[in-house]
Amino acid sequence: MRKTNIVIDRDYEISDVDHRIFGSFIEHLGRAVYGGIYQPDHFSRDENGFRQDVLELVKELQVSVIRYPGGNFVSNYFWEDGVGPIDQRFPRMDLAWKTIEPNTFGLGEFANWAKKAKADIMMAVNLGTRGVPDACNLLEYCNFSSGTRYSDLRKKHGMKEPYGIKLWCLGNEMDGEWQLGRRTMEEYGRISAEAGKAMKLIDPSIELVSCGSSSKDMPTFPQWDAVTLEENYDYVDYLSLHQYYGNDSNDSDDYLAKSDDMDEFIHTVVSLCDYVQAKKRSKKKMHLSFDEWNVWFHSKKEEEDIIKRHPWQIAPHLLEDHYTFEDALLVGLMLITLLNHADRVKIACLAQLVNVIAPIMTEEEGVWRQTIYYPFLHASLYGRGTVIKTVVNTPCHRTSCHEEVRDVICAAVYLKEKEELTIFAVNRNLSEDQELILDIRSFGKMKILEKLMLVSEDLKTENSLNKERVKPVKDLKIYADGQNIKTVLKRASWNVIRLKNKTED
Ligand code: AHR
Repeated sequence: MRKTNIVIDRDYEISDVDHRIFGSFIEHLGRAVYGGIYQPDHFSRDENGFRQDVLELVKELQVSVIRYPGGNFVSNYFWEDGVGPIDQRFPRMDLAWKTIEPNTFGLGEFANWAKKAKADIMMAVNLGTRGVPDACNLLEYCNFSSGTRYSDLRKKHGMKEPYGIKLWCLGNEMDGEWQLGRRTMEEYGRISAEAGKAMKLIDPSIELVSCGSSSKDMPTFPQWDAVTLEENYDYVDYLSLHQYYGNDSNDSDDYLAKSDDMDEFIHTVVSLCDYVQAKKRSKKKMHLSFDEWNVWFHSKKEEEDIIKRHPWQIAPHLLEDHYTFEDALLVGLMLITLLNHADRVKIACLAQLVNVIAPIMTEEEGVWRQTIYYPFLHASLYGRGTVIKTVVNTPCHRTSCHEEVRDVICAAVYLKEKEELTIFAVNRNLSEDQELILDIRSFGKMKILEKLMLVSEDLKTENSLNKERVKPVKDLKIYADGQNIKTVLKRASWNVIRLKNKTED
């Protein structure tokens, strides 16, 4: 059997985890809003028309922050369409996804829903087809107390107190040729700096996210990021990263190596931020907001067909990837990567949350959890604390596009108050189990709380409404041996090892 040794020393802290890395995303896209979180004619609806079965799962995931209302959608969104009495709102053509937006759900409804979901809001402004004045009006509507046109409009709409939204995205993927109102890097640098300056005059307590490149594969990456940041550095607090992966070539070994690309992407963007900081002689360290990340490829062909052949529907089935077991492994690997960069990645949004490339799916009969639901759940429940550096001695293998792929990838999070240590580990060797020895002697005597794993004979196993084939199981074969913990990481597996200091008993 292959062998992996991991040494974890409690003195080697990477950083506290910002709870906002367990964020997600709701865009007006497909069935995310209509038929997803909001369905006034559904049997599980509450008094606001929110599906309670969906809310229960969102709460179970403990999603910390939710980005809204897009995505590509925001770049031609007129937020005024979605406020005020519902019977006075009118539908509009959504050019991003070629659908009809009914506008029966907007800002007020979302704020109400997010409150019920116990999540903070990350609001995006339209810097595509609109600009600085509209971003300011929206912020005034949301955060200013009263006595001005937009704050009084909010009050007239029944919301006496400001929403107090703290986190704002300055547009979305503004480098993308698909984006409405796409901008050159010079243009975006200027408009985001001016929007940021004005918005912070309205509310100095807000935090702003500048649009970085839409992915590592953009031809203008990383120049876009450097040029735009040089222009807006003083006004923004985070630079965004977006990345989706897929297994289009059906090469699972190589697919699971893609979290290494994500790791490299983060390293590059951190270096770039530090370069701009040095160039500007600034004292401010730029942090990262990985505000779109996930697996997205299963539905791409279908989605093109719907958009091309049957445009202008209300809430069609768009981007409804049905995830497999191997997708859950990659999502787990991506979560581990985010945790290990907790010193610079302060916000991350699994894109998205319901129906659209999502962990939660709805049908008329009820809701179900996709395979990727579980790594997110585990990380969100047990990954809040301090990330400790792991020194991992593990064998390597090659894949078609990656030369040296470590078999085992892991992250360790220590929750000081509870004296609990959690190790998240994926064995991405698809054919061999791994004997694991964890050396945690610096923590003193630890007892085993539990070991959870996701395993499946078939990498392509999916879940559905009626059958949850991929779900966590407990592994009892884990032993404390002196100051070491010993167990086996099965081939192709997601593992959560939960330990607790013994002196607490
Ligand atoms: O999450 C789906 C889409 O992916 C978003 O609308 C866009 O920002 C990205 O390209």
